[in-house]
Amino acid sequence: MAFTPRVFSGMQPTGNLHLGNYLGAMVQWVEMQKTHDCIFCVVDMHAITMAVSVWGGPSELPGQIRSVAAAYIAAGIDPKRSILFNQSQVSEHAELAWVFNCVARLGWLNRMTQFKEKAGKDRENASVGLYDYPVLMAADILAYRATHVPVGEDQKQHLELARDIAQKFNNDFAESIRKAGIDDGQFFPLPEPVIIGPATRVMSLRDGTKKMSKSDASDLSRINMTDDADTIARKIQKAKTDPEPLPSEEAGLETRPEADNLVGIYAALAGKPKAAVLREYGGAQFSTFKKALAEVAVSRIGPVNAEMKRLLADPAEIDRILAEGARRARAIAKPIVDQVKDVVGFLRS
Ligand code: AMP
Ligand code: TRP
Repeated sequence: MAFTPRVFSGMQPTGNLHLGNYLGAMVQWVEMQKTHDCIFCVVDMHAITMAVSVWGGPSELPGQIRSVAAAYIAAGIDPKRSILFNQSQVSEHAELAWVFNCVARLGWLNRMTQFKEKAGKDRENASVGLYDYPVLMAADILAYRATHVPVGEDQKQHLELARDIAQKFNNDFAESIRKAGIDDGQFFPLPEPVIIGPATRVMSLRDGTKKMSKSDASDLSRINMTDDADTIARKIQKAKTDPEPLPSEEAGLETRPEADNLVGIYAALAGKPKAAVLREYGGAQFSTFKKALAEVAVSRIGPVNAEMKRLLADPAEIDRILAEGARRARAIAKPIVDQVKDVVGFLRS
């Protein structure tokens, strides 16, 4: 089957969104929206795989979902052009995940590094959902036969698993797929990760070898999308650096993770390649560069932040947008998941 290009991506409604989410994912989504049919999802079912203290429980979750939806829109996702919805409102995700649970192998999931990181030492006490997380993610993507998945570097392994699941489903059910009239036996596409831009892995401001993350105990390690101008400037000023001035070529960043990170952030925010930033700031001291970086960060994040606040003042409107998105998403996913049921041999009413 020739697959129409379709983009799917998602983000969890846990904690504050930060600069890594914005530069690693959202900025690419806004770009892809110009050229592709896109589906963007707030993955609340993934959020509850962690301890309640992480996602906040039933009193916090609705607000977190709305807040991530507002961030998507404020960053430039147009909910009329693209589909914007909330995972749990489209039950096909969970239904397909079950079928995929029976396609994916334990050995495949045992290799997932993110599970190991998130589960930590007390693995016996992690939820089954956390272990199964990448299978649900494969279902998110393949319920729409999505072909392209823009994500940050950390999701690459999960995308490889999604491809393995798609391939194994196509193989396991090959005969049944042909009987259903799909002559080339390709029921699912093998979705491609789209990991592009100068900021696919934004690092902590306190440690250039650690990813910027929602879960870092130090708030100084990240720039939150809700930080005000003063906070952004203060965090950049306090960011860890080394004593040397900036190099004028990229090769000079190789052994300097903190410098590399700040230059990458500047490049992504200013929409320029890193080499261009170094041509401008090569030889400059960090004190000068950090001022410029704070300025560009405030000018990019400030308006997104203000627009998010404006949208969140009307939660009913966000709920309406998500409900309409869910209706449009289901219209695509339901026929595909119905066909999966036929291919597997389930009886349908
Ligand atoms: P999450 O917050 O884990 O739901 O991630 C949402 C999206 O942001 C995914 O595409 C991630 O790959 C991306 N992302 C998260 N942290 C970073 C980071 N530090 N640098 C770049 N991308 C990131
Ligand atoms: N696992 C992704 C993350 O934490 C979020 C996600 C869930 C996702 N389902 C997805 C991303 C489908 C892309 C496609 O970043």
